[in-house]
Amino acid sequence: MTTVAEIFETMEYGPAPESDAPARAWLESHGATFGHFIGGEWRAGRETFEVTNPATAKPLAQVAQGTAEDVNAAVAAARAAFPAWSALPGHARARHLYALARGVQKHSRLLAVVETMDNGKSIRETRDIDIPLVARHFYHHAGWAQLLESEFAGYGPVGVVGQIIPWNFPLLMLAWKVAPALAAGNTIVIKPAEFTPLTALAFAEIAREAGLPPGVLNVVTGDGETGKLIVAHDDVDKIAFTGSTEVGRAIRVATAGSGKKLSLELGGKSPFIVFDDADLDGVVEGVVDAIWFNQGQVCCAGSRLLVQEGIADRLTKKLRARMEKLRLGSPLDKAVDMGAIVAPVQLERIRGLVERGVAEGATMWQPSWACPTEGCFFPPTLFTGVSPAATIAQVEIFGPVLVSMTFRTPSEAVQLANNTQYGLAASVWSENINLALDVAPKLKCGVVWINSTNLFDASAGFGGYRESGFGREGGREGMWEYVKAKHAPSPLHAPRSVDAAARPDGERGAWSVEGSSMPPLDRTPKLYIGGKQARPDSGYSRRVRGADGSNVGEVGEGNRKDVRNAVEAAHAAAAGWGKATGHARAQILYYVAENLATRVDEIGARIAAMTGDRREAGRDEVERAISRLFTYAAWADKYDGAVHNVPIRGVALAMHEPIGVVGIAAPEERPLLGLVSLVGPAIAMGNTVVAIPSEAHPLAATDFYGVLDTSDLPGGVVNIVTGAKDALVKVLAEHDDVEAVWYFGSPAGATAVERASATNMKRTWTETTPRDWLDPRHGEGREFLREAIQVKNIWIPYGE
Ligand code: NAI
Repeated sequence: MTTVAEIFETMEYGPAPESDAPARAWLESHGATFGHFIGGEWRAGRETFEVTNPATAKPLAQVAQGTAEDVNAAVAAARAAFPAWSALPGHARARHLYALARGVQKHSRLLAVVETMDNGKSIRETRDIDIPLVARHFYHHAGWAQLLESEFAGYGPVGVVGQIIPWNFPLLMLAWKVAPALAAGNTIVIKPAEFTPLTALAFAEIAREAGLPPGVLNVVTGDGETGKLIVAHDDVDKIAFTGSTEVGRAIRVATAGSGKKLSLELGGKSPFIVFDDADLDGVVEGVVDAIWFNQGQVCCAGSRLLVQEGIADRLTKKLRARMEKLRLGSPLDKAVDMGAIVAPVQLERIRGLVERGVAEGATMWQPSWACPTEGCFFPPTLFTGVSPAATIAQVEIFGPVLVSMTFRTPSEAVQLANNTQYGLAASVWSENINLALDVAPKLKCGVVWINSTNLFDASAGFGGYRESGFGREGGREGMWEYVKAKHAPSPLHAPRSVDAAARPDGERGAWSVEGSSMPPLDRTPKLYIGGKQARPDSGYSRRVRGADGSNVGEVGEGNRKDVRNAVEAAHAAAAGWGKATGHARAQILYYVAENLATRVDEIGARIAAMTGDRREAGRDEVERAISRLFTYAAWADKYDGAVHNVPIRGVALAMHEPIGVVGIAAPEERPLLGLVSLVGPAIAMGNTVVAIPSEAHPLAATDFYGVLDTSDLPGGVVNIVTGAKDALVKVLAEHDDVEAVWYFGSPAGATAVERASATNMKRTWTETTPRDWLDPRHGEGREFLREAIQVKNIWIPYGE
């Protein structure tokens, strides 16, 4: 007699296919041929390309390849729609976003099936994860449209935004980009990936049906060439990109100097860290979700398993047993865990990297069952015995391939985790919450999941550090990417008149010893590096002239080597300063202000001598610099993060972290106040700085280091290198150990900085029109603080 247990053991999953008939009918309603969606109309493509189902290798549709004319037409439509769309009250835009959310829900099954057919991902995922998150994103951002005027007061839309998205979450990536852009009042030209354009086209249709005004959303299909045209278009105000680091880098270079706002969400090689007290069965399910979810084609996939040595063998055994039970097959089958890889080239890439892993000596393991032979399938794969420097431990494979390594101590785990050029996400598994929350801030990445993985929500920011890009998507953090400041009108001070003759004699030549017949004592300021005065490596000095051409002093001529030394000093100081409490940093900023206050007359006179202003104006600038230091001392312990209201039993902590070493090229105008206005927020938020002061008027900065020297500021937190600003800042922009560069100066300088920043994808902030630094509305506040931090979202589920 057969027992129940035996029946249970031998039970097979029957096929449970989702019907593709409605999706086929939808494709047929378009004659299986799609044009671009521009100005609310379909526009036939001159050339088309075929889109196939990767699970069957059968064609699905012909889609247009966007040309320059198509992109021009789409940008023109977006531009034409912009005035009316951006002028709508927030509530009206909220209704439109709400209608889009409803539209997605009404067509959710069609979208899920089309997505599965186009991408190869399982219907279980598209139905239960992708599409519900899309709807959630539009609902959430309907809320931001409603609240925009109050919550982003003083900010407005950026304009026409170009959005380029990848193929791994085609409709979800569209939602992440389209929802915030529309909420903020921008109009859009979006290009889906060439492998997976179909749900974007279906969405365009839903948007039209939902009454979105023509031209507000335009969809241009095509490959990277079409993407390039959008990036290069003169009338696009912002580019938002998700995809490979390689293309992100090309876009950074292509947009350098264009004034386009830019956000990049790039690749990753995210660590999945397992401590020996973790719940191993939970870990196994976590690993399934981390690397076999979406066939591992996830930018934040937990693709590097870092396991504490003592439990490595046990975990490997458990994982292999679980892998043996994973079900891979037709993605439309509701009972499969894994579907197809997106396209043959991606499959080849995965195969190539796996072969490389084997060749480099790691142990590969795959389950005993075989993959379907038709279509693009790759089995779940586990590598053990991987050296941290191996190709498969460093390169993003973007497939169902997990590489595993071991560590002994928490600090070794952190070191291994950070041993990559990326910094997107991490998972930390331990039943000891103290340990997990101690490790999380040490990981260089934008998202950390504690005892969980791949959790996403519209209310929490998502985005990377380092070569994983910059900018956040989701929540309030993400909204900043789609707004820009509407600066309150405040006339800039007219250029200062140089009327030396009108000045009382005593005001000239600030270096002379007033009331003395003695010749002035030579006091050439040096550079300030690591808390010490340093002679410039070049052995040269540069003369500083007053507005009337008189000689007011000399400063060191800094060079490449000096900048490198300064970066090294800033780097050495970064860990300690970054960990100091906000209160401690505030104390030091107050002390700097206090010491500056003792030198108002002297430094004010020096500023006046350099700029040609009256002494009162110089003194006024110093007084305002003191006030500005107070502002950032005040902010040091007040610029809080947030606790996001995510839909789990738990919280997502949005922590503000310092960026690291920030290079600052200060504005030419307001030589002291301009410098202090930038160095202040940077160090208040825990960064260390290499500053290049005003090239024309550097003496105020060299006075300032004298002040720093007596203010208990740890050596290396602020380093000052004088000299040719644009040449020096370029060294900073190219330097791999500099994490951000702020540049205030010429358009040519800004272009060079943005271009050079592509080396390590550092964040840049460039401005080429002078600000009114005297006016606190322009010269201080949250705008500066936002530039000085990066947000890390730490997800902490809780409960027994
Ligand atoms: P990709 O970065 O080339 O493609 C992403 C999007 O950018 C697509 O819409 C593409 O048409 C467009 N594009 C390509 N070249 C462009 C250019 N020069 N200017 C403007 N747009 C351009 O990614 P691809 O080739 O599809 O995948 C290659 C590798 O990239 C993958 O194996 C994976 O490692 C990584 N990747 C990472 C993603 C992520 O979410 N982080 C997403 C997709 C790919």
